Parts: sequence; structure tokens; C-alpha cells
Amino acid sequence: MLDLSPLGLAEPPFSLSPDPRFFFLSAQHRTALAKITYTAEQRQGLSVVYGDIGVGKTTIARRIYQIYNDDPAYEAAYMPMPIFPSEFQFLKAICSEFGLPPKRSKYAQIELLNAYLVDIWEQGKNTVVIIDEAQSLVGQQFELIRQMLNFESNSQKLIQIILIGQNELRNKLRLKRSLQSRIATRSTIEPLDMQDTRNMINFRVMVAGRQEPLFTEDAFQLIYDHSKGMPRDVCVIGLNVLPLALINGVNIIDADLVQQAIAEIGED
Ligand SMILES: Nc1ncnc2c1ncn2[C@@H]1O[C@H](COP(=O)(O)OP(=O)(O)OP(=O)(O)O)[C@@H](O)[C@H]1O
Ligand SMILES: [Mg+2]
Repeated sequence: MLDLSPLGLAEPPFSLSPDPRFFFLSAQHRTALAKITYTAEQRQGLSVVYGDIGVGKTTIARRIYQIYNDDPAYEAAYMPMPIFPSEFQFLKAICSEFGLPPKRSKYAQIELLNAYLVDIWEQGKNTVVIIDEAQSLVGQQFELIRQMLNFESNSQKLIQIILIGQNELRNKLRLKRSLQSRIATRSTIEPLDMQDTRNMINFRVMVAGRQEPLFTEDAFQLIYDHSKGMPRDVCVIGLNVLPLALINGVNIIDADLVQQAIAEIGED
């Protein structure tokens, strides 16, 4: 692995995997998280998060999962890639996340899940399912989600469902009126502004071990202009500029080096 210690870094600051440790809480991420956790904690059923490719949806999904998986008052399931041939398969996959065995019929499977949810509820606990890439869901799978939201006590939902997906999910939900009308809270993750782009970079650099900024102000500006604040594009530039900084033996990265990295990325 590349030795980043000359830059004061103990580990790579711009990994492309959505590691919750590197999660920078911008104002809008904070708002989205507040809406999602409010929906889950108040047992309001369905919260939906929309966002463009690379804006940080999976990062948020993992963060929510981490919150509820660490909390003994919750049973949490995370479905990263809900591509299933039928709603029965989808249902079995959700059940399996909770350790429930497959059943012969969809009806029996629903009954099993319902009994499980009642049991968890009676223990004073709550159940959360986080579904990433929810724009991949089709037809009857949305209907299954609606059905699961019908599991309720007198006043509360027994299962909280967080749907996270690209903007296409919005269009799909528009066509599923009965599900759309059940959305308790919705959030749209927008790209970062200039200030948060700088803050996110500084945060990631700090988590990776370096206290002082790694980039000049002009370098930040160029990263922002080029990435338009899309977190993945910011990280890709960061990832590509680090080896250039090492080769050039610099300790702070200026706009010229960022420009070189952008040119290399643009060659694809
Ligand atoms: N709030 C954030 N703080 C730190 N890094 C972030 C943040 N949001 C996104 N990133 C980084 O941006 C990259 C893309 O994020 P992520 O994979 O979460 O996006 P996505 O919206 O799920 O993308 P896709 O639409 O392709 O699934 C990752 O490298 C992630 O670490
Ligand atoms: Mg994703």
C-alpha cells in the first residue's frame, strides 16, 4: 500500500467505500438523519431518502444501520441490493435478516414475520429495515412494503422501513399512490456547497490522521468547481491527487496538482 506518512496521513482519507467513520455530517445530512430517526423512533412507518448517483446515500444507509444495530432496543436489517425475482423472495430475504426461516407460501411467511414483529414489540423493542438502491424494486415488491406497513398496534407501526434510492425511486413511488401516501418523512440529499466540500475534505483528512489542511484554498475551489460538490467525485479527485503529491514531495496540495489529477481522471 502507498505510504502516506510523508503527508501526515496514517490511512487513505479518500477511500471510495462508504465507511461510517469517514461520514461527514453536513447540515443536510443532519436533517436527513433527524427525519429518518424521528420516523423510526416515533414508529411512523416509512421514511424515504432520494439522491443522485454518488451523493452519499449508501453512506447514510450504513450510518443508520450502525445506529440501530448498536442499539439493544432495536432489531435492524440492512438490504444493500434488493434485486429479487419476486416479492416472495424479497420477503424471505427480509425474514432471513431477522433469523426467520423460509416458509412454503407467501402467506405463511407474512404470518411468521407478523408474529415476530409482535413479539419484538411486546419486548418493548422496535424493528427497522433499511433498503438501499430502492429504485431497483418493482411492482409487487412495493405492494409488499405497503403490506408490511399495515402491521400495527393501535397507534404504532410494528416495522419501520427506510427506502433509499436514486431519483428514479421518486417516479416509481408516484405511480404507487397507496404507498406514496404512507410516506411519513422524505429527504433529498443534494450535493455539498463549497463550504461543506472543504469541510468534508478537512474532516476526512483529519480522520486519516492529519490535523492541518492538506489543500490550499485554490485547490479546494478547483475541487469544488470540478466535482460540483458530489462527494464521490470529490473523493475520486482526492484519491488521484495523493500519489502526485507524494511523487512531487510536497506537504500541501495546490491547484496545479489538483488540475493534473483532474486531467488524469478525464482521460478515461
Ligand atoms: N457525508 C459524507 N461524508 C463523507 N464522505 C461521503 C459522504 N457522503 C458521501 N461520501 C463519500 O462519497 C462516495 C459516494 O458515497 P455513497 O456510495 O454513499 O453514494 P451513493 O449516493 O450511495 O452512490 P450510488 O448512487 O452510486 O449508490 C463514498 O466514497 C463516500 O465515502
Ligand atoms: Mg449507493
